[in-house]
Amino acid sequence: MKGIILAGGAGTRLHPLTKVVSKQLLPIYDKPMVYYPLSVLMLAGIKDILLISTPHDLPLFEKLLGNGKNLGISISYAVQKKPEGLAQAFLIGEKFIGNEDVCLVLGDNIFYGSGFSKVLQQSLEHVKSQQEAVIFGYYVDDPERYGVAEIDNNGKVISIEEKPENPKSNHAVVGLYFYPNSVIEIAKNVKPSSRGELEITSVNQAYLEQNKLIMNKLSRGYAWLDTGTHEALTEATEFIKAIEKRTSLKVACIEEVAWRMGYIKDAQLLTLTEKMNNQYGVYLKSLL
Ligand code: DAU
Repeated sequence: MKGIILAGGAGTRLHPLTKVVSKQLLPIYDKPMVYYPLSVLMLAGIKDILLISTPHDLPLFEKLLGNGKNLGISISYAVQKKPEGLAQAFLIGEKFIGNEDVCLVLGDNIFYGSGFSKVLQQSLEHVKSQQEAVIFGYYVDDPERYGVAEIDNNGKVISIEEKPENPKSNHAVVGLYFYPNSVIEIAKNVKPSSRGELEITSVNQAYLEQNKLIMNKLSRGYAWLDTGTHEALTEATEFIKAIEKRTSLKVACIEEVAWRMGYIKDAQLLTLTEKMNNQYGVYLKSLL
């Protein structure tokens, strides 16, 4: 399975913070925001990753992450000229995806929870064996801000809507989607919504109509952090800081993930710490 990180967009909601720097490069405590979704893909076992961003921001991501070789993975890059919708990721990434299944993660979505790697790996396996789409629901108080799934008593999705005025449930669809290769054809047939975007919700709607949409509910033990406002951004930083301090472990430390997943060996991890004369480097060394 291939992985795509969509990290573009106008970022206007966070101005002036994001006037010259992409939202997904802003710090969340001790690392850039994009480390969090990148670590999600890596934990799922995905090693071939495409990062999509704006013409202005793409070089900065390249500077930060390079070709991924030092993490034992491959990262390539593609431009999205205008933010014309999440589903455009599959059109931009068509060649990159080739004949494989694909996981899309939004560059501003942060997840935390014990056992998450297993959930991710099971989702990947499900797509592979069943050729169905797997999405995730999270209970929120303000569903009108998100894609919203209505589910029946058996947990089956009945309907799915993008930012509905009158949400049918409190289950927001989070920015992490596992699809079979058919997503490319489905995305090609998506028409722009009333706000002029190729909506990911239309893609999910198509899988729902084919009876090929599975939604996993992320339960109470999981945190799905919002980064959409200045306040949410600060809260995300505080949350990660508290977890890291209390557990003495880092969240979304891509170097650690690469090492734990066996993508790199001890010697390569040590090399990564060489220019890090700070607590981050000390932490990486302590793993060895
Ligand atoms: O975060 C989960 C939500 O993400 C889902 O519940 C919604 O169904 C989905 O539409 C999306 O809603 P948002 O309102 O958060 O979408 P937004 O336009 O803010 O875009 C999400 C991220 O993707 C953001 O960091 C910008 C980036 N983006 C967005 C668009 C539309 C792109 O890189 N390219 C784009 O074309």
